[in-house]
Amino acid sequence: MLCLGIESSCDETALALVEDGRLLGSVLASQADVHALFGGVVPELASREHYRCIGPLFDELMRRCRRSGTDITLVSVARGPGLLGSLLVGVAFAKGLALGLGARFLGLNHLHTHLLAVGLEQELTFPCLGLLVSGGHTHIYRMEAPWRCQPLGRTLDDAAGEAFDKVGKLLGLTYPGGRLMDALARAGRADAGLFPRPYLDNDNLDFSFSGLKTAVASYMERRLDGGWPHPLRRVEDAPQALRDCCASFNLAVVDTLCVKVSRALDRQPDLRALIVAGGVAANSLLRERMEELMRRRGGKLLTPSPLLCTDNAAMTAYAGWLLGRAGFQHDLSMETIPRGRAVPDDMVCRAEHPQSGETA
Ligand code: KG4
Ligand code: ZN
Repeated sequence: MLCLGIESSCDETALALVEDGRLLGSVLASQADVHALFGGVVPELASREHYRCIGPLFDELMRRCRRSGTDITLVSVARGPGLLGSLLVGVAFAKGLALGLGARFLGLNHLHTHLLAVGLEQELTFPCLGLLVSGGHTHIYRMEAPWRCQPLGRTLDDAAGEAFDKVGKLLGLTYPGGRLMDALARAGRADAGLFPRPYLDNDNLDFSFSGLKTAVASYMERRLDGGWPHPLRRVEDAPQALRDCCASFNLAVVDTLCVKVSRALDRQPDLRALIVAGGVAANSLLRERMEELMRRRGGKLLTPSPLLCTDNAAMTAYAGWLLGRAGFQHDLSMETIPRGRAVPDDMVCRAEHPQSGETA
């Protein structure tokens, strides 16, 4: 089965082909430079860029993989959550292709595709715990099967990546700030008492990161003189005090994520594996700490290599292949789901017995 994956939920236009569980090739056009001028993603510009790039990217992918459109059996696409205008470009393109080529069609939850991406590199084991930490979302799931993810907790305000990006903006780093903050943190000394570990004094699995941003703003006002180039692009240009501040912030976020993941695993002792995915899963300290946490528990950490953590279409094509193989699909009336609305479980299963005997 040859599955095309299309991703356009935010500011990356990406397409990839997966055949028999193996990645044949992928292409990606990032809009980071367009939005960096504004310090955040501008939705109208994002959809225009997707519209401009998606056709030529499809042609390039086919040429690189030496395949033609008629070889495609399934067209899978991120249907949400995301920016509505951006999603619509990918979904409309996917529906048109499926219709024109006579291929099956499947719309995917973008968050689930992040979690399943690691299957391209390591064997997935179910049931497992899933931590999704991206620019727009922070969720904890119990995952019974690739098509069954039960939400256990989520952020009540800023997502983990959003916290990195907003603090990055505050500190004058280039947008999005997460990756540079990671590098600055590695060059700094963390003070564990400097910033709070927010929203732990409760009994739930939810997060709240917005207060952390306020704590950094107030620290900055009192203790940092802002004497570095704005926007800051390189670790070498950062004074030690800024590096230390980033290390302390980074540690506060990672500690918080570790506490809630441990709590979730304590409550679900049958889960022996943890998937950590999404852009923030590229964070080096988070990877080290989650690895250690699972080692101590005698379980296994599954996390995609950093390039597969941020938005890409290899994850969309792979998740499409997994679910398509189990018999799932949509008809062309499938809806696109913007950020803030839950993605419905409305896939139709054509197979009598999807792999684990479950239905969507
Ligand atoms: O998953 P993703 O590409 O987009 C969404 O679906 O939201 O995640 C992007 C987010 C951004 O907030 C970015 O700053 C963050 O991931 N990020 C990182 C790192 N690399 C990317 N955050 C912390 N450490 C990193 N190394
Ligand atoms: Zn994403």
